[in-house]
Amino acid sequence: MSLMLGYLEDYAKNRRGSHNYHTILVMGYAVAGKPEFALQLFGRMRYQGIDLDVFAYHVLLNALVEGNYYDGVEAVSNQIKSRGFESEVTHSILIKSFCRKKEFDRAETYLRRVMEGEVKIKGGGYIVGALVDGLCKDEQFDRAGKLVDEFGEFHVYDIWIRELVRARKLDGAMEFLHKTRNVVQYVPDLFRYNTLIIRLLRENRLEEVCDLIIEMRESNIPPDELTMNTVLCFFCKGGMVDIALRLYDSRGQIGLSLSSMAFNYLMNTLCGDGSVVDAYRILKNALEQGYFPGVPTFSVLAHALCKLEKLDMMNELFHVALENNVVLSDRIHEIYIQALCRTGRVEDGYYIHGELNRLNKVTTGCAYNSLINGFIKSNRADIAVRLLIEMQEKGHTPSRQLFRTVIQSVCETENPEKQFQRLLEMQLSLHEIDCGVFNIFIEGAGLAKKPDLANEVYQMMKRSGISPNVTSDILLLRSYLRGEKVSDGLHFFHNILERRAIGRKVFNTLIIGLCKANKPDIALSYFTNIRAKEKTVRPSLECYEELIYVLCNHKRYDKILDVIDDLIDVGRPLSSFIGNNLLLHSLKDRELYDTWVDSRPPTELTQPESSHIWRLREVVGLFSDRFRDDISIDDLEQVVRNCFPLDIYTYNMLLRKLCAKQVDDADKLFDTLCPKGYEPNQWTYETMVHGFYKHGRKDHAKLLLKEMVQRGFRPSEVTSALL
Ligand SMILES: *[C@@H]1O[C@H](CO)[C@@H](O)[C@H](O)[C@H]1NC(C)=O
Repeated sequence: MSLMLGYLEDYAKNRRGSHNYHTILVMGYAVAGKPEFALQLFGRMRYQGIDLDVFAYHVLLNALVEGNYYDGVEAVSNQIKSRGFESEVTHSILIKSFCRKKEFDRAETYLRRVMEGEVKIKGGGYIVGALVDGLCKDEQFDRAGKLVDEFGEFHVYDIWIRELVRARKLDGAMEFLHKTRNVVQYVPDLFRYNTLIIRLLRENRLEEVCDLIIEMRESNIPPDELTMNTVLCFFCKGGMVDIALRLYDSRGQIGLSLSSMAFNYLMNTLCGDGSVVDAYRILKNALEQGYFPGVPTFSVLAHALCKLEKLDMMNELFHVALENNVVLSDRIHEIYIQALCRTGRVEDGYYIHGELNRLNKVTTGCAYNSLINGFIKSNRADIAVRLLIEMQEKGHTPSRQLFRTVIQSVCETENPEKQFQRLLEMQLSLHEIDCGVFNIFIEGAGLAKKPDLANEVYQMMKRSGISPNVTSDILLLRSYLRGEKVSDGLHFFHNILERRAIGRKVFNTLIIGLCKANKPDIALSYFTNIRAKEKTVRPSLECYEELIYVLCNHKRYDKILDVIDDLIDVGRPLSSFIGNNLLLHSLKDRELYDTWVDSRPPTELTQPESSHIWRLREVVGLFSDRFRDDISIDDLEQVVRNCFPLDIYTYNMLLRKLCAKQVDDADKLFDTLCPKGYEPNQWTYETMVHGFYKHGRKDHAKLLLKEMVQRGFRPSEVTSALL
């Protein structure tokens, strides 16, 4: 303004007499916000007999209205009228003037006079529009609405919608749109649509936005990029991904390109929503059109594809990334390789690993792990070995477990010696020699049931000047026993005894190994001898458990009581495992109880009646059907609980006992399992199904069988064949 005023001052001083001198000054001061000064100039020029043209008159009139110089308005409008310059522009300026003075009645009277005059006014919409605008700004929407209805015209509609949206009367605006669209086929312009859409979005009225967009398309008014992107983001945010997707798909028809923000937003939402196939389609589509999304978008999609195991798509994605020099993160590659291995496509995983190598990227330790395990599963120990060595060269430290698994798999191949040697030599060249490396090899060979190989490593260790420690001894001993070389194992045990005092671990290894090798007598004789001599060696609970287990299986019932005595002597608990074994054998075989009574007649029992042995005898007797035929559930549970803690296997045994003669009780007990916090297993169900069947209650049996299947168990063939 100040620049303009400066210019006008200069013009007034220096350009006097130039063409249109007065007109330019009047208009200039009018638009520069000095209407009073413009009016003075106008008076002066009229005095000189000079007049303004139509355009300048209206500029002056409008400026006077804007500046609230209503006297001037009156005077100038009379001048306009008397010169015959009056037009729709004059009328709408005057209406605006009335509105500013809040003379709405006068404005309306004026309007009606003009509109209902004999000559139909051209551009009447602008005149009505001025009044509608004035009324709305004065919050008189009802009155304005009536005028809109009465004098409706597109320009009036535009103003009406603009004002409704401004005043947040969205319902009114939407309703009006529907009404006029059907009746007079009024279509708002893009600007009006956009303001309406953005308002609707702010109020989360997403469905209506969607309708509007469709409507715009039908009316051939393409939404612009700004609106579309806003809408798309809002739809995603509102969880209406399907609509967002539809919108995205139709953007070609609309002729739009998306901003990267909207694109990423859509991709993220789709991936989070599980709609990765759509996300992938969109990405491909974008790439075809030459748009390349950023690495984060790639990662989000890759992650989702791997998680849902859409690996063919992931494969394409990987290559697209490669071609475009996008470097995906190590983590993404790791997830990809893991997914491939998990789904049995270890060769493909290996290929990806190769590609990474080519790019000088180091495959992560976890990915190596997956690959190695994958190749072991598909019997390619040779590749597993290569990878195990390679990963160490690349600076990873394989876990002991991975190592052992590789060695085991090598040992399980047909001619393991060469591979085994190679791996061992490789390891010894990579690491400082200590017995740890050798131990892993002994252990792996043992797991593969190759005791000779294990022994070779053991000898090699000694030849290398490293003395085997206790762990080495234990591992080799275990290898022998697991590899069914019992006599070699015993020989080696004596060899150990020559070198060191017998310790708890070696003792446990020997006994447990012998039990697992199914040698109850040898196990028991070593157990008894060593226990007699070495009072300080306290066997582990597992040792007792394995011993009792194998003795039961071989019906050495007479020996069991001594072992249990010893267990209680050393202060170990009678575990559920031991108890369950005894129950099982009592159920199957009456001999257990008979042998116990024969070998230890009650008169000879030195322990008090409250002792473990007495209580155990009672339970064994009960399960051998020696006592009462029927027993209450509570009593049964209590008798057992007196001896050892109950687990689900114990309950299976109780159910089996009850199913023999008291199937209703069994049913009752079964119903209490879940409330007590026990999870019925396969055997629980089978016991009950057989129990019901045996007592002719086939319907019950069928029902339970159904439940069993629903819970994800597979009935055994015998059970299935029953029904
Ligand atoms: C035997 O040596 C290995 C390697 O040094 C070590 O990890 C292990 O703990 C040792 N065993 C015992 C019982 O000390």
